[in-house]
Amino acid sequence: MSKYIINNDDRAPELKGAVKVQGSKNGALPLIAAAALTDGEVVLKNCPDILDIENMLRIFESLGGKSERRGKELRLKMEYMNSAEISSALAGELRSSVFMLGAILSRVRQATVAYPGGCDIGLRPIDLHLKAFREMGVKIRDKYGFIRCDASNTHAADIDLDYPSVGATENVMMLAAGTPGVTTVKNAAREPEIAALQKLINLMGGHISGAGTSIVRIEGSDKFRGAETAVDFDRIVAGTYMTAVTLCGGEVMFEGADGEQLTALISKLKDTGAEIICSDKGIKISSSGNPKAVGSVETGAYPGFPTDLQAPFGALAAASSGSTVIIENIFETRFKYLAELTKMGASVKVKDRVAVLNGKRLCGAEVKAMDLRGGAALMVAGLKASGVTVIENARHIARGYEAPEEVLGALGANIVKV
Ligand code: UD1
Repeated sequence: MSKYIINNDDRAPELKGAVKVQGSKNGALPLIAAAALTDGEVVLKNCPDILDIENMLRIFESLGGKSERRGKELRLKMEYMNSAEISSALAGELRSSVFMLGAILSRVRQATVAYPGGCDIGLRPIDLHLKAFREMGVKIRDKYGFIRCDASNTHAADIDLDYPSVGATENVMMLAAGTPGVTTVKNAAREPEIAALQKLINLMGGHISGAGTSIVRIEGSDKFRGAETAVDFDRIVAGTYMTAVTLCGGEVMFEGADGEQLTALISKLKDTGAEIICSDKGIKISSSGNPKAVGSVETGAYPGFPTDLQAPFGALAAASSGSTVIIENIFETRFKYLAELTKMGASVKVKDRVAVLNGKRLCGAEVKAMDLRGGAALMVAGLKASGVTVIENARHIARGYEAPEEVLGALGANIVKV
């Protein structure tokens, strides 16, 4: 079991320098699924080298695809789809396995997928995905932990999602892209990852419009070709490190980051006293390292405050001067990291989906990452805490953050992975 060790003396170092932000995990995962729509080669530039991508590639390969990585470039080719089944062993590693369902059905009309795994941050049902598929004529048997789908008689449909689910929007886009007629998705998710998926599918010969708004229109195509695209910057990784700079103090330029994708976070970080300048080069943030509490933060669908940044922001709130109320509206059990933060001196009260943090001076402790973003929060807290912080279960963090010890080390943090 690997761990991160952050070693500060009495005073944590400020973070200074420049970071070239890695490619987006949530952006790249559906693009890998989309590569299964074609027998042509799909090239993804700027693809992050992280555990979740490795696991998604194992699923892609188990279906008959081949992948080759050259640095940050990923070449994907699925000449034939030999299998239309995702085992529980593979699906258990990663929730995005369910995003493969739409692509498999588009291509071979049959699929069997074990219930997906991923972060244990709540119930994470997939009822919205399945309801939309049924509305498109897919016959679904959902038994014994497996979902068996028959899409031999699918048709276009007007789908109205009960909630703007990212995964359901992406899944419907992939099935509808290979289904004759025009499918519309109302109340679609508006995350930048949806626009990135639209862009790739259109480069492959699809006809999708509306991504980024709440109505996505998909006109079915019967053939897709290979294409090349670049994965956008990871807004959650950039946001995590921006939170760390706000807490520790210093000045960091996040190259390639687009402030438009982080407006909710930027507004809150400014409220703490950080100075932030967005330009076409990236996001520059400077902070005195003495953040003020912001009152309240509430997660919401994009462009609201991202649930994936709730935990890193919680670490900042735990050491800011004053009280912060955090309301988690998206996932039910995304406060597990708070129990670990209390080992570092945080003052926390939690009731259901509301947490109240009273800022304290944090000190190092042995803590455990319970999930990806919760683990990242412990890292942010450890960067500020006096003494030594040991974060066990580093694997969770490695699912989404590319070599954080190198990125933060280059900015002046004393962090190692052992
Ligand atoms: C994606 C992101 C994840 C992020 C989340 C919300 C990827 C790989 N993951 O996850 O990092 O935290 O968006 O921004 O892109 N829901 C249902 N039924 C469904 C589907 C979702 O009730 O069929 C609920 C969920 O339980 C949750 C909410 O809808 O409460 C949002 O989930 P969704 O947007 O689907 O998240 P994911 O696509 O799983």
